[in-house]
Amino acid sequence: MPALPILQYPDPRLRLVSAPVERFDGALHQRIDELFETLYATTGIGLSAPQVGDLRRIVVMDLSRSRSKPELYINPEILSSEVMGMVEESCLSIPGVVGNVVRATQLHVRAVDRSGNPFERDLEGMHAVCMQHEVDHLNGKLFIDKLPMIRRLAIRTSAVFKGAPDPVRPSPSAPSRAPSRRPAAEDGPQLDGGPQPAPG
Ligand code: NI
Repeated sequence: MPALPILQYPDPRLRLVSAPVERFDGALHQRIDELFETLYATTGIGLSAPQVGDLRRIVVMDLSRSRSKPELYINPEILSSEVMGMVEESCLSIPGVVGNVVRATQLHVRAVDRSGNPFERDLEGMHAVCMQHEVDHLNGKLFIDKLPMIRRLAIRTSAVFKGAPDPVRPSPSAPSRAPSRRPAAEDGPQLDGGPQPAPG
């Protein structure tokens, strides 16, 4: 089963709001398998269905270095969030862009599994950050929306003129002015991007 193409910013489909999954059938299961296949073809830790053009509320994640702990969240809802922190994020749909955003590092979420059975789970650290990033995708939001306006403009200009580097991206050796703290995670610190720069 081949990996699916991942939509790239500024594709307008990344701005659409996805609909809840209502049919838990074989076609859904095939799409879930394709999403994992697509995620595992990257170094990212999370992927949402709208990133492959499927406007349904499906999130797949795997934060394990061995890529052996698949997590599926259908129709995820964040019921509570606490402990805010600044984290560095990237996105498979916006390759080469990294930015610091404020996220909760503890969540309580509700979702359903591939058969439609509901479950609830506490997520911490990078699990929590990844879930917020992916739920944003389901709502047509991107992590760059949380960056300063001047940076967003630069990223959009860079994306429209493909191949140009992100002109406001700080050089890796330059000290970051914003305090950057990654929440504790077992591994896999990047979001649905990979090690920087995020692979396509
Ligand atoms: Ni993303």
